[in-house]
Amino acid sequence: MSSEFDFGGAVPAWGRSAAEYEAFFALSNVPLSARVLDCGGGCSSFAAEWGGKGRFVVAVDPVYSSSGRDLEANFKPVAARMLAGVQKTRERFLWDRYGSPESCIRVRRDILATFLSDFRSGTASGRYVAGFLPSLPFRSKSFDLVLCSHLLFLYSAEFDSETHISCLREMLRVGREVRVFPLLDMAGKRSGHLDRTIKTMRNYADVEVVPVPFEFRRGDTNMLRLKT
Ligand SMILES: C[S@@+](CC[C@H](N)C(=O)[O-])C[C@H]1O[C@@H](n2cnc3c(N)ncnc32)[C@H](O)[C@@H]1O
Repeated sequence: MSSEFDFGGAVPAWGRSAAEYEAFFALSNVPLSARVLDCGGGCSSFAAEWGGKGRFVVAVDPVYSSSGRDLEANFKPVAARMLAGVQKTRERFLWDRYGSPESCIRVRRDILATFLSDFRSGTASGRYVAGFLPSLPFRSKSFDLVLCSHLLFLYSAEFDSETHISCLREMLRVGREVRVFPLLDMAGKRSGHLDRTIKTMRNYADVEVVPVPFEFRRGDTNMLRLKT
């Protein structure tokens, strides 16, 4: 893993928006009736934004057993590390979407605020569920689409190939289709787990690497799609 982005584990307070998810996962054609699970949703505002539009979205993450206040407290130190890391490696990114490392931090702060404004009521209504891979607290085929953003393959140093496979099998158990983005690791290299994971998962599902309409880290332009 590149040291600029070594946080010693997956970073919960650093969330992405619905517009970003729509691009990472090419969501433009998802039917309004689809039941969607955001797996490892963390402080993404995706569930809040899509839920707010009347879509059925559940997000699951171990951090949902924490308070909003604790999650918020995580943001400042992470933002400082992220800013320093991105400033040092600026040329690894395309800046047309976010403008600058500083504006990228502002975008993340707004996303956190949107998530936090929904977290308490969303937890009460079942939108945010504490749980973790590879053993999710949902019945088989409860969802039409399961999304996993910035967890598998990105944290290739933390999770071995077997864990990637167990997590994908579990997501396929609870959903009919699974989409994962990104497929590059923390250093911006194709994940070393990808080929073995794809080969094994072909025993259980149709598996495809699909180009998506998003590029921030250079070359980070594909998702993995698995369908049963
Ligand atoms: C970098 S964040 C990504 C959050 C969100 N998906 C996004 O893209 O904005 C990674 C998230 O994965 C969660 N996570 C870590 N281990 C997990 C596991 N075993 N099962 C589910 N989520 C996990 C972390 O708590 C964290 O919220």
